[in-house]
Order: sequence, then structure tokens, then C-alpha cells
Amino acid sequence: MSSNGKNGKKGSIRSGVAVVSGPDGSSTNGLLRVGVVGYGYWGPNIVRNLHALDGVRVVRVCDKCPKALQRLKKTYPSVSVTEDVHELLTATDIDAIAIVTPVRTHHGLARAALENGKHVFVEKPFTSTTAQAEELIELAERKNLTLMVDHTFLFTGAVRKIRQLMEEGVLGDLYYYDSTRVNLGLFQHDVNVIWDLAPHDLSIMDYLIQGRAEAVVATGASHLNGFEDVAFITVYFPRNVIAHINVNWLSPVKVRTTLIGGEKKMLVWNDLEADEKIKVYDKGVEVTNQQGIYNLLVSYRSGDMWAPQIECTEALEVELDYFVDCVTRQKKPVNDGEAGLRVVRMLEAANQSLLQKGACLKL
Ligand SMILES: NC(=O)c1ccc[n+]([C@@H]2O[C@H](COP(=O)([O-])OP(=O)(O)OC[C@H]3O[C@@H](n4cnc5c(N)ncnc54)[C@H](O)[C@@H]3O)[C@@H](O)[C@H]2O)c1
Repeated sequence: MSSNGKNGKKGSIRSGVAVVSGPDGSSTNGLLRVGVVGYGYWGPNIVRNLHALDGVRVVRVCDKCPKALQRLKKTYPSVSVTEDVHELLTATDIDAIAIVTPVRTHHGLARAALENGKHVFVEKPFTSTTAQAEELIELAERKNLTLMVDHTFLFTGAVRKIRQLMEEGVLGDLYYYDSTRVNLGLFQHDVNVIWDLAPHDLSIMDYLIQGRAEAVVATGASHLNGFEDVAFITVYFPRNVIAHINVNWLSPVKVRTTLIGGEKKMLVWNDLEADEKIKVYDKGVEVTNQQGIYNLLVSYRSGDMWAPQIECTEALEVELDYFVDCVTRQKKPVNDGEAGLRVVRMLEAANQSLLQKGACLKL
């Protein structure tokens, strides 16, 4: 994973990198020229971080809503704007397109961008169906273009630290991943709470847990606008690892807490904590005698707790820098189309399971 511009490493990432060629074959002097479609809630974060990167020029931003473009112009007067997405998709002075629109539009926009020879950075969830995701992966491969899905959390200091702890064997064999991601709103108009909030945990689980998810069970209910606003998802992984996600738009308080339990240690990740987001507990359970069920002796270990230091660089800055690096060096991103597809597959299964009142669906 590449580092950010502020710690001075960014220049070295791309030093000596071949000059980027535009879709028209023109030289761009190493600058990646990016267009962004969608400047609603999340788009400004994408534009702000792209704008701050040394190797990027935000050439044009498209939104069908004129008010959104007026907001953009106030902050970035030099960036050109358009309400016509085709102007962006077919522009010869743009190498890559960031798609920051609702999920129902991702497939059509990403396909058009790839067909026009643009690299694509697309928001989570990647697509509305696995078939759409598979089509985009095939198209990007055929055109030799980078396709990256915004799985922002993989680039947070917290998730990177958890992955490091797991790789170093600090937690031991993994037992479970249990996340609560609840708040009041923001109600979405086109997707339920699973498609809105669960992609975060599903992408984190896909990144942290060894092996691919094997089965999904989900339950949930809708109370207000016809879309499920409360849902509970269980995902089964190989080696007896179980994951659970609680997503809810009707919670009186905002909670972003994940418990990860291993054979050797357990950790609590509270993403709302300013400091000490991760606490590692030297706690565990050992079965010391297995001669028949009545002789089972269980001993509990309760040792120290420590809070590892984690990097606090904005995840999107790290991720977008990594996107530029993947494009210029033709590297396969960890959050590529395949990673996006695995998340969409779990989302689809969760939705199906929910409709069948918690049927266990194999992936
Ligand atoms: N990675 C994250 O943490 C994160 C956080 C929030 C949202 N998102 C994702 O970002 C995407 C956008 O979410 P949002 O909350 O910003 O939505 P939003 O509705 O606030 O904004 C979307 C914008 O896209 C514009 N738009 C839609 N279709 C268009 C088209 N065909 N051409 C031009 N403009 C178009 C709309 O006018 C609107 O301004 C979603 O996929 C969402 O899941 C990701």
C-alpha cells in the first residue's frame, strides 16, 4: 500500500515512473488527468483528496445538478464543470474517471468509461449485481485498464494495523469478527441499509480474514420507506471463522465498534475514539481437560491491555494515491474489481437470505 503525500514519500512512489499517456496518445508529463462524476455527499471528499495529490490534475467534474457544480466552482474555480456526463466520458484530455454516484448508475457509467479507454475508480458498492461486476472486470482486463473499487476502510490506519497484528500472529487463530455499525439515518432512497452500510464491513472482512466467505444468513425489517432499515448479517468463513454485522439506520446513538476474537488475543476497534481506536486484550479461554464433557476444565486468561499506535492519515488520501500508483505502474489493486465482486456477491446473498427470513445461502 502506498503512502501519503504529507509524509514526503509520495514523490518517491512515482519517481522514475513512465510518463502517462492520454487516451489520445498524448503525453501528460506524468500527471494523471482525472474527471469526477457525482458531486453530492461523498464526491467533495474525492475531489478534495485528488486535488491535493501532486501527480493528479482534476480536469473536469460532472454532476447533473447545477447547484452541485456551483458549490464546486466556489472551492475550485480552475476546474471545469459539465452537466453532460458524455462530455466527461469521451473527453480526450482525461485519463481516469472517478464515479461517485448512486450504485444503480455505477455499471453504466463504469462500462462507458472503460469503453472510452479510461481507468476507473468507482464507489462502493461496486455494482447492483454480480453479473454487472463480472462484465466490468472482463472489460477492464480486455482493455488493460485499472479498475478500483472505493473500499475506503482498507486504507485506514486502524484496519492496516489490525491486518498487521493478524499477519504477525498476535491474535492467533481467528475465532470471530463482530461489528456494530449503527446510527440515525442517513436513509437512502434507492438501497436498503445492507447495501448502504454493510459494504464497509464486508470489504474489511474480505481483506482481513483468510479464505473466501462460504455462506451468508441475514435477517432484517423495514419500518419506514419500504427499504430494510435494520439488518443482521452472519457470514461463515473457512476454518470455523464466523462474522456478524449489525447495521441499522434507526439507532439513537452512533456506534462503530468491532470485536475481533482470536485464540491468543482479542481486540476492540472503536472507530469513534479519537485516540486508542484499537485496544488489544490479552484475554482468552483455554480448555485444559477434555476427558468427557463433565470433566471439561475451562480456564480464563485475563492479562494486559494495550493500545497500538495507528497512522491517522485520511484513508481516502492514501487510497487515491494508491489508485494513481496502480495506474501509472500498471499494478493490480488489492481493492480491484474482483474484491468489489466478492462484496457484491455477499450483499446479493444477504438480500436473498433476508427475503427468505434468514435462509442459509451458500456462496
Ligand atoms: N466510501 C465511502 O465511505 C462512502 C461514503 C458515502 C457514500 N459512498 C458512495 O458514494 C456514492 C455516492 O453517494 P452520495 O451519498 O454522495 O450520493 P448523493 O446522492 O449525495 O450524490 C450523488 C451525486 O451524483 C449526481 N449524479 C447521479 N447520477 C448522475 C449522472 N448520471 N450524471 C451526473 N451526475 C449524476 C447527483 O446529482 C448527486 O449530486 C454511492 O455509491 C455511495 O455508496 C461511499
